[in-house]
Amino acid sequence: MSKEWKVIGLDAMTEYYDVDLKKARLNILLKNPNFHNFEGLVEDQILLDKIFLNHKPNVILHLAAQAGVRYSIDNPNSYVQSNLIGTFQILEVARKFSPDHLLIASTSSTYGSNPNMPFNENQRSDTPMSFYAATKKSNEVMAHSYSHLYDIPTTLFRFFTVYGPWGRPDMALFKFTKNILSDQPIDLYNNGKMKRDFTYIDDLVKAIYLLISKIPFKVDKRGALFENDSISNSAPFRIVNIGNSKPISLLDYVNVLEKALGRVSKKNFLGMQAGDVEETYSNVDLLENLTGFRPKTTINIGINEFVKWYKDYYR
Ligand SMILES: NC(=O)c1ccc[n+]([C@@H]2O[C@H](COP(=O)([O-])OP(=O)(O)OC[C@H]3O[C@@H](n4cnc5c(N)ncnc54)[C@H](O)[C@@H]3O)[C@@H](O)[C@H]2O)c1
Repeated sequence: MSKEWKVIGLDAMTEYYDVDLKKARLNILLKNPNFHNFEGLVEDQILLDKIFLNHKPNVILHLAAQAGVRYSIDNPNSYVQSNLIGTFQILEVARKFSPDHLLIASTSSTYGSNPNMPFNENQRSDTPMSFYAATKKSNEVMAHSYSHLYDIPTTLFRFFTVYGPWGRPDMALFKFTKNILSDQPIDLYNNGKMKRDFTYIDDLVKAIYLLISKIPFKVDKRGALFENDSISNSAPFRIVNIGNSKPISLLDYVNVLEKALGRVSKKNFLGMQAGDVEETYSNVDLLENLTGFRPKTTINIGINEFVKWYKDYYR
């Protein structure tokens, strides 16, 4: 975190997964004197107003969400609260306080059953396969309307399967590592025939950081910057993929993990899970055109970094 930045955090520390892990991450951030934290829900309009009145942030980075494709099958209400109502309240506070730039996390899941790989931002993304994806797609279109109506420069990120140290315990790498180390079988859906565009956390953070200063403008003034720009024709609004642009098969991913752990897994081959897609693959040309940066971390490096962190954290 640069010394010129003051960062205000807001997280409800929800119990979707281990709150101690969330607290451990927060404790690292709290060591930085430029970071100030609030615990609360993004749906809490009174709290948001208070924070914005006191701190007047010029950039809003909205990452808080109920994440997870599978959990959304049985718990859709949580997604309505955090993702639909929560994001609505973020848009409201942006309308009232006119930040220089509003950036919001969306997901590769919005590409749903689109078969055209690699996915680029101008392709169809209106066939979500899970309610999680449907709420994230809704966030994109809600944000577009606010951007158009209230002239809020807005960037939506579509993240592709992010992994690395301090990651989410409900995601495959975390679960596989835990099970392999405790000699339990790992579940491989679609009989392992899945491909994911795994994106290393440091690459994602760098891409977000670089995009903060790439403020979308109204296209009628200057025209699109690039042929493949996703900039709206009616709002200062853009969608940007952040992925590794290199789909890896799940079995290859497990192979690398086994090597990093020095153990062989017991595999439980299962059918396709409801809500899931077989493959994700990002086109990141727009990210590169805008920032000069393309994520490049290989799974060998990324998985080894995760395993180092995991062994140290759960020592
Ligand atoms: N990790 C991925 O692979 C991935 C992929 C695509 C998109 N995303 C998106 O990226 C963002 C960050 O995801 P993550 O993987 O770090 O998940 P995460 O669950 O670790 O982080 C989300 C945080 O939001 C908080 N939160 C949840 N509901 C809240 C609410 N109503 N009010 C305030 N805080 C709330 C949670 O406590 C949590 O700390 C999310 O918007 C997610 O949908 C993540």
